[in-house]
Amino acid sequence: MRSATASAHPNIALAKYWGKCPGSANVPAVPSLSVTLSGMSTTTTVSFDDTLLHDELVINDARMGGRSLARASALLDVVRAEANMTARSARIVSKNDFPTASGLASSASGFAALALAAVRAAGLDWSLSQVSDLARRSSASAARSLFGGFVELDGGEGGEGGVACARPIASPDSIDLRVLVCVTAEGAKSISSTCGMRMTQETSPYYDAWLVHARRLFVQIRSDLLAGDFHAVGEGAEKSALGMHACAMAAGIVYVTGATLAALAEVRAMRAEGIDAYATIDAGPHLKCLTTSRSMHDAKERLLRVPGVLRIVETLPGEGACITQESLGQESPAQGKPGR
Ligand code: PMV
Repeated sequence: MRSATASAHPNIALAKYWGKCPGSANVPAVPSLSVTLSGMSTTTTVSFDDTLLHDELVINDARMGGRSLARASALLDVVRAEANMTARSARIVSKNDFPTASGLASSASGFAALALAAVRAAGLDWSLSQVSDLARRSSASAARSLFGGFVELDGGEGGEGGVACARPIASPDSIDLRVLVCVTAEGAKSISSTCGMRMTQETSPYYDAWLVHARRLFVQIRSDLLAGDFHAVGEGAEKSALGMHACAMAAGIVYVTGATLAALAEVRAMRAEGIDAYATIDAGPHLKCLTTSRSMHDAKERLLRVPGVLRIVETLPGEGACITQESLGQESPAQGKPGR
């Protein structure tokens, strides 16, 4: 049996992508820029095992099938083909220490950890950039979680067979940034980002305008970040999130809830009072408040009082994915012992 365990953090996009290039290569339509968040993580063990008849996937102690297993197996198929081990099935055991599939970027940390663990378990000596490209094919945002600090991901110009690589552009401590993740629901979200993007591309009257807006915001936020300007980055990030949601809403896709909007109003009220606070929201109901070490305490206290904010996870820019010595799940939950 060949096994490896990797750990990865989620990331939150400051300049968001929403929409894909035509074709099946899973290349984002626009470039994006994110920050990798310590304080939340996914740990995944991949074990290639000759005794297994098919791949198995266990997330947070629940055995997964259907689309989740198919997506994980598709990633493993690439690794198996590269390592000349096409006949070998694998057991994947994964744990998130935050809600799964709810807009807290579990797919980003999940596929980043899976890609790194699978590549190393197969004995492939790939660079992190190659692992990032592999993760990107399953979930574009996952490409960014391989790296720490502030990370950019190319967007393609369209066309089949495009490539899109993530790369770090600034270290975790390059600006004083704290991110308060305001959890507003514990369940899985109703519309996956893949599905939401497809519907937006097909039916939003604002999609073409979003592509122009998103590319401009990416350039602006990137240069504001490199200049170390927290307020300009925060302003750009809030615009990026609101632009993405406006475009999706026009296609009937609504991820925000009353709690999200109440938290957004509080962020804006705090800002008017001189507290460092900006908002960003991914494809889910949680609001992430971008703040500084100076304002974090006040911002957290205020946001905890917003009706519908269940709890707050304090995060800050963190490191990229890594291999760990811990090994998960030698026991198979449904069958007790691993299948023979
Ligand atoms: O790549 P996915 O399927 O995890 O979708 C990411 C979508 C957003 O989080 C809303 C934007 C982004 O750039 O991360």
